[in-house]
Amino acid sequence: MEDHFDKALIFTDLHITPPGETIIGLDPLARFAEGLAHALARHPDAQHIILLGDLAHSGDPAAYARLVPLLADCPIPVTVTMGNHDLRAPLRAALPGSFNAEGFAQHARDLGPLRLLVLDTHDYEDRAPLEQDGWLCEARLAWLDAELTRAAEDGKDVVVFAHHPPCPVGFWAMDAIGLANSEALLSRLHAAPHVRHLVCGHIHRTIHASAANPAGGALPVTILKSPCHQIPMILGQSTFADSVDEPGAYGILLALRNTVVVHSEDFALSDGSVQTY
Ligand SMILES: [Fe+2]
Repeated sequence: MEDHFDKALIFTDLHITPPGETIIGLDPLARFAEGLAHALARHPDAQHIILLGDLAHSGDPAAYARLVPLLADCPIPVTVTMGNHDLRAPLRAALPGSFNAEGFAQHARDLGPLRLLVLDTHDYEDRAPLEQDGWLCEARLAWLDAELTRAAEDGKDVVVFAHHPPCPVGFWAMDAIGLANSEALLSRLHAAPHVRHLVCGHIHRTIHASAANPAGGALPVTILKSPCHQIPMILGQSTFADSVDEPGAYGILLALRNTVVVHSEDFALSDGSVQTY
């Protein structure tokens, strides 16, 4: 029996609004606070919490200001990256420690035998702010190359995190705003045998995929849903603004006996008490 889990918690697509604003009648800050409390109560042994982008709904400084006290009180270290709904300047002003010297929210964190590489796929100087699709510029790709090499030298297996998935998921409106230079990412990950898994957000639904390598094999991909609003299960033609009030969730990543495990935990379904029938 295992008596210890190397564990990280993942929240994506918080979409926090300024005070008084809601999304389809939901208060994103309240939903995140509820999910965070749920996660901290059940997983106080987690070593990291990753916020995988779309922290704010419209990049508003007043939204980030509501998030800061929650994170300041969090007993587990929090790693932050950006999504398409974030804006770099206000997020950096609110959480300046979340950006590297080049101005990107990219991070390497150790989790037992794993190295977690968190990428910043927000459009930046290459294209206009608040473009919805993602992009990894040459500087960010160079960081990834260096970190993949360093992880191999350190004998670490790698889990990569990126807000924008580099693969289609069947919601056409979302597929149109995925990672625009997905091949730049996938070619690197496919060429690195120590990369074990990719975790994404952006879609607002729990999805499992395998991003094929033209040379053979595939990379497993887990996409986690939001603690707040989800995309309705309308495959094919859709709009990315369509949302539905279904249970919010967070992810639980485990490094477990040479296996990367990603759970998706719905909260706010009930009081969570276990009953025997
Ligand atoms: Fe989102």
